[in-house]
Amino acid sequence: MFFKKRVVVAASVALLAVAVPACGSDDSTSGGSGTGASASGGGGDAIKLGFAQVGAESGWRTANTTSIQDSAKQAGIDLKFSDAQQKQENQIKAIRSYIQQKVDVIAFSPVVESGWDAVLNEAKRANIPVILTDRAVDSKDTSLYKSFLGSDFVKEGNEAGEWAVKEFADAKEVNIAELQGTTGSAPAVDRKQGFTDVISKDPKFKITQSQTGEFTRAKGKEVMEAFLKSGKKIDLLFAHNDDMALGAIEAIEGAGLKPGKDIKIVSIDAVKDGMTALSEGKINYIVECNPLRRPQLMELVKKVKAGQDVPTRVETQETAFDSAAAKTALPSRQY
Ligand code: AHR
Repeated sequence: MFFKKRVVVAASVALLAVAVPACGSDDSTSGGSGTGASASGGGGDAIKLGFAQVGAESGWRTANTTSIQDSAKQAGIDLKFSDAQQKQENQIKAIRSYIQQKVDVIAFSPVVESGWDAVLNEAKRANIPVILTDRAVDSKDTSLYKSFLGSDFVKEGNEAGEWAVKEFADAKEVNIAELQGTTGSAPAVDRKQGFTDVISKDPKFKITQSQTGEFTRAKGKEVMEAFLKSGKKIDLLFAHNDDMALGAIEAIEGAGLKPGKDIKIVSIDAVKDGMTALSEGKINYIVECNPLRRPQLMELVKKVKAGQDVPTRVETQETAFDSAAAKTALPSRQY
């Protein structure tokens, strides 16, 4: 069984020392889609947090949203939540609306890395601190945000590549198809880089087909069907998330092939559906990306609102799973 620990940044330990006060009692609904805001948790003088979510593209994202909403409620924070449906313009609109509403703190998971400076400068001028969660921006001006809370996506790609190197140790050539995440997003850019850095050390590994599946199951299936129709040999599929791998499994089975055997699959996330496919041998290996760290976000929000120093980067402890480890983990898997 292969079960591997990844880096924990010491800074997160300091955060854990911050007490989380008793929760608020407001029961108003939270969530919703589009750019409309909604509230949860907190009373009249509660901290107001505006959160601009990417969308609802994957099982990971849905678990992440639930974690944000639940942990805001528990922390007594008044959450204004919006779902950008994977569109940067919707996220920018939501952030501007939070600035107008004079929230205390803004947090968001940037759908793509570039193009945030203008709106982040507007937040800065309005004295509203910003926290990045899950995905980073490529802005040179790091004073535009207080902290980043999320995973090391390059490392995730490295781990997928290291597994491939071991798995195909005896092969003479390995033809790889890659399903990339959303074009221009930090996880797509970094996971590709991390994976390529490792496999490019051996010329027998070749990425022969690579296209975005936008982190969704439907697009993952559609693109995999096109890969299969191209007639090029595929030994390994590297999917940047489980949802695209699950869509690809449908395409592979539709083509009369056996996922996990005729075409090996490595993916990232470790959501329940992905772990189930892994336990059944349809996926061969999954590197975890943990969406359930939002209590840490609420601790950061409270510190930032209180004007306290916060670490500029907080990373999460994550693992990786093979089929046996997935079977062990599944009964208590939370997402
Ligand atoms: O940013 C994290 C990524 O976004 C997850 O891996 C993916 O499933 C999600 O859509």
